[in-house]
Amino acid sequence: VEDLTPIQDTVDFPVGVAIDSRETTGTAAELLTRHFKQVTSENYMKPEAWYDANGTFTPNPEADTLMRFAQDNDLNVYGHTLVWHSQTPAWFFQNDAGAALTTSERDRSILRNRMRTHIFAVAEHLSDTYGPFGSASNPLSAFDVVNEVVSDGNDNADGLRRSEWFRILGEEFIDLAFTYADEAFNGEYAAAGSDRPITLFINDYNTEQSGKQARLLALVQRMLERGTPVDGVGHQFHVSLSTPVTALEAALSAFEGLGLTQAVTELDVTTGTPVTQAKLVEQGYYYRDAFRIFQDHTDDLFSVTIWGLTDGRSWRNSSGAPLVFTDAFAAKPAYYGIVDAE
Ligand code: XIL
Repeated sequence: VEDLTPIQDTVDFPVGVAIDSRETTGTAAELLTRHFKQVTSENYMKPEAWYDANGTFTPNPEADTLMRFAQDNDLNVYGHTLVWHSQTPAWFFQNDAGAALTTSERDRSILRNRMRTHIFAVAEHLSDTYGPFGSASNPLSAFDVVNEVVSDGNDNADGLRRSEWFRILGEEFIDLAFTYADEAFNGEYAAAGSDRPITLFINDYNTEQSGKQARLLALVQRMLERGTPVDGVGHQFHVSLSTPVTALEAALSAFEGLGLTQAVTELDVTTGTPVTQAKLVEQGYYYRDAFRIFQDHTDDLFSVTIWGLTDGRSWRNSSGAPLVFTDAFAAKPAYYGIVDAE
């Protein structure tokens, strides 16, 4: 790989990247370990990834490859995600006969137990295999406890997405998820003497837009009033060149002063198509300006994660080359923008 200044050396917060096992060998792994200090599993710590076709908890090889790779290369692991409406087996929300759970007390308690069992199973596997959380051998440092629970529109006073979780349990599902995650990751499976080793996040997209931002902020304030054990707010930041970069600053500023940390969890910046050299240069300046903002927020930033290593591996590549390295592992203007940000 090119002999370039590591991205990690140019900023004061951990910089991460979303990967799967393809980034854990060969040139991709070399590039990754040169520039980054943290990894997120792009798909394999999501609810559906932990179960076989019969709904039996079955640790998947991808999650283990990532944990071992992180151990071997001294990287942190940012866990993603425990409770979500997407990439979750349908049976979570069904009774044994395959019918949708209702809001009866009996069905609500089935879903609560299922959530708790799921969260404890993930924590138990990751601690039994890699050591208690907060011990030197376990690279896990954070988890997105709930993902995308805020509504896209302003139709509901509570501002929450009408997911199956919400339909059956109501807003309480969010507090339960954090309570169970705290009990498991920072309690039962934490190293003796460690102090809440796993930072627990609420994560969402479009937080750079005023409506989503206000709804998320109101929710987080309610959670804090209720004493929910939330530690941080995650901003996905799936943006494009037409997103004013000042909106990223506004999003981070909106959540300052709550006593929480924050993370940029899934950064990518599409150029639009066709992808031209001029657009790639503009993207370089965008990454530079974004990282200047992040650097200004170092004190409340847990980490910044780029949602993929090379363009061809991005879920948004069809909207225009959103990442920092090419498929040939070459640095794009986006890379030079980031290292120029300091
Ligand atoms: C995406 C992955 O990048 C894709 O590979 C997968 O097909 C769908 O999920 N918000 C999230 C991420 O929290 O989990 C999503 O990841 C992107 C949007």
